[in-house]
Amino acid sequence: MAILVTGGAGYIGSHTVVELLTAGYEVIVLDNFSNSSPMSLKRVSEITGREFKIYNVSILDRNGLEKVFSENSIHAVIHFAGFKAVGESVEAPLKYYQNNISGTILLCEMMQKYEVKRLVFSSSATVYGVPKVVPISEDSPLSATNPYGRTKLMIEEILEDLFRSDNRWSISILRYFNPIGAHDSGKIGEDPSGIPNNLVPYITKVAVGKLRELKIFGADYPTKDGTGVRDYIHVVDLAMGHLKALEKNFASTGVSTYNLGTGKGYSVLEIVKTFEKMCGEKIPYTITERRPGDVAVCFSDPSKAKKELNWSAKKEIEEMCADSWRWQAKNQEGYDEEENTILAGTGNLRLIQNNGDFLY
Ligand code: NAD
Ligand code: UFG
Repeated sequence: MAILVTGGAGYIGSHTVVELLTAGYEVIVLDNFSNSSPMSLKRVSEITGREFKIYNVSILDRNGLEKVFSENSIHAVIHFAGFKAVGESVEAPLKYYQNNISGTILLCEMMQKYEVKRLVFSSSATVYGVPKVVPISEDSPLSATNPYGRTKLMIEEILEDLFRSDNRWSISILRYFNPIGAHDSGKIGEDPSGIPNNLVPYITKVAVGKLRELKIFGADYPTKDGTGVRDYIHVVDLAMGHLKALEKNFASTGVSTYNLGTGKGYSVLEIVKTFEKMCGEKIPYTITERRPGDVAVCFSDPSKAKKELNWSAKKEIEEMCADSWRWQAKNQEGYDEEENTILAGTGNLRLIQNNGDFLY
């Protein structure tokens, strides 16, 4: 079975490609590297001992998409490609609507043209807006609090319409809670550009001395210690959820939506303490104002995925923190350092050999 993975060089995509290759799938990655490095895919190849095709193509590029679909016999698509920075989406909404929504429409048009009707889509817990009740189940009310979240909501609706128009589609919408951690090899992980927006990437940068101290956004929430509570899920567990969703897509048609989370909530201070324990370093922090738009508590009810996909998250918070730390400690500059060396050495981006099919 050949699976097209859009955004496969990114954080969640690269971990999912590892699990797909390990499970014996053929993988074709499509990514324009707007928020990732091709190095992640070289590392995926090292981890798995497998090679695969990589297309440096944007989902906004109709001709590029046509080339990918015409050159490969694709059985299903896992669609990660998109922008994901909440703050940036408020500053530049059109950029988000264009990339996430127009890109998804173009991708689906191409899938329709080539009769590829199995799709796994990356949605987010952000579609629950400000949750009134926790744990959050899939039938909780939906709303968007920013343009990024609105792109996810709109795409979910577009996919529902698509199925209504043609009931041969089989679509899984996966709503991720807070992915953290990294592959236990320490070879791939989250590599945000600039100063991280999210908690764990920020903590790891403090731990390796790249940032001075963590700012905890508010300690006056109605939670156990006053700091915000989230449902952190190991990225490898999340990746496995995609394989389970894919199996369901091969077995039946329809649109199904699943929360991918652990069902447990941890506070910011609990994450800081666990991280300190796993890395043996003190994480200096100060308490600052609440971050606008943050909710106090957000965690999932993951029972639908357990029941229908036979999937549940296995890894505990200690392992998540230890793996995030290992990745950061082994790659203090992220992927950049090694990539620059390779680029300087070879003068091009031909990182993985494969029948001359690469578009680098
Ligand atoms: P990421 O930025 O690491 O990965 C996204 C990948 O898509 C990158 O490799 C990027 O280069 C690529 N991309 C972006 N626009 C593209 C385009 N037009 N054409 C081709 N490739 C393009 O992000 P991630 O954390 O791996 O997230 C993957 C998906 O999961 C995204 O859709 C994101 O919105 C969603 N999601 C992420 C989180 C999270 O906390 N990381 C939470 C919920 C949902
Ligand atoms: N936090 C800090 N300091 C920081 C960063 C975060 O105290 O420097 C706190 C936040 O206030 C929050 C918790 O840590 O209480 C988690 O914050 P993140 O930014 O890591 O994650 P969020 O839950 O705010 O949001 C993330 C993504 C969203 C996505 C959501 C659910 O950024 O896009 O998870 O998947 F929708």
